[in-house]
Amino acid sequence: MEAMRAVQILNPSGEVTMPRPDRTRVMCVANQKGGVGKTTTTVNLAVALALHGNRVLVVDLDPQGNASTGLNVPHHTGVPDVYDCLINSMPLEEVTQAVEGIPNLWCVPATIDLAGAEIELVSVVARESRLDRAITAYPGHFDYVFIDCPPSLGLLTVNALVAAQEVLIPIQCEYYALEGLNQLINNINLVRQHLNPRLEVSTILLTMYDRRTRLADAVEQDVRNHFGDKVLHAVIPRNVRVSEAPSYGQSVVTYDPGSRGATSYFEAAQEIAERGVKEPVSRNA
Ligand SMILES: Nc1ncnc2c1ncn2[C@@H]1O[C@H](COP(=O)(O)OP(=O)(O)OP(=O)(O)O)[C@@H](O)[C@H]1O
Ligand SMILES: [Mg+2]
Repeated sequence: MEAMRAVQILNPSGEVTMPRPDRTRVMCVANQKGGVGKTTTTVNLAVALALHGNRVLVVDLDPQGNASTGLNVPHHTGVPDVYDCLINSMPLEEVTQAVEGIPNLWCVPATIDLAGAEIELVSVVARESRLDRAITAYPGHFDYVFIDCPPSLGLLTVNALVAAQEVLIPIQCEYYALEGLNQLINNINLVRQHLNPRLEVSTILLTMYDRRTRLADAVEQDVRNHFGDKVLHAVIPRNVRVSEAPSYGQSVVTYDPGSRGATSYFEAAQEIAERGVKEPVSRNA
């Protein structure tokens, strides 16, 4: 019911379509800075795309398990999770759960076990490409795989970068927003050189934009000057409905489809979908 209501409110005429890509787009949502909106972005883009006919898998790669919580997917101790895939070579399909209430959306949850993976991975064979292998071996076909990264540049994030073709960087419109970004870009370049030549930064999304501040505007200009057309036109405003939604185990897209947070994520998802079929995104990230 909520899913149908969301589609009716966000896309009343049914005019907007989110075309399915002709191959799976694996997108790593990364920024080692904490609290910039990685998980919120992952959850809401995934829901918006799934509600418009795309088959979407969310891989929760953060021991905090926020994406699992946001999608209302059980992830208490004992639930098979992404840790079992990375460390015990369990097939991804055995730990995947359907997201209740949203057709076409699945989630690989993270339990607290994943906290140990960063250290345990160090001594595992092919430690950087465990997730890539698991995703490649997945028999089901997805249009999108979103990987929600933890706020660090450790082996979990490296696994996500090796598994992905695209990096989506959410940037919070705040002072210090660009600080640390160089480090992320350097890591992406290293992974591209040594482990995954197809990797590129395809998408930048500005989050928590507060139009009342001149600072937000300055950050937006800075980011647009620096990253050009990788930056989505859609900008996510700071919106209290966005922050309320997870406590109801929902995305803002279904929790309050009329809110500015929901409409912005809907627009961002539409842009991502259209870019995926129009232009092969430029090679020089
Ligand atoms: N547009 C928004 N408006 C208001 N609050 C937001 C918005 N986006 C995210 N938040 C809130 O900000 C906090 C951080 O967001 P989120 O968890 O998505 O960031 P994160 O980058 O995944 O954090 P972490 O680095 O800890 O994984 C959350 O409490 C979330 O609800
Ligand atoms: Mg997060």
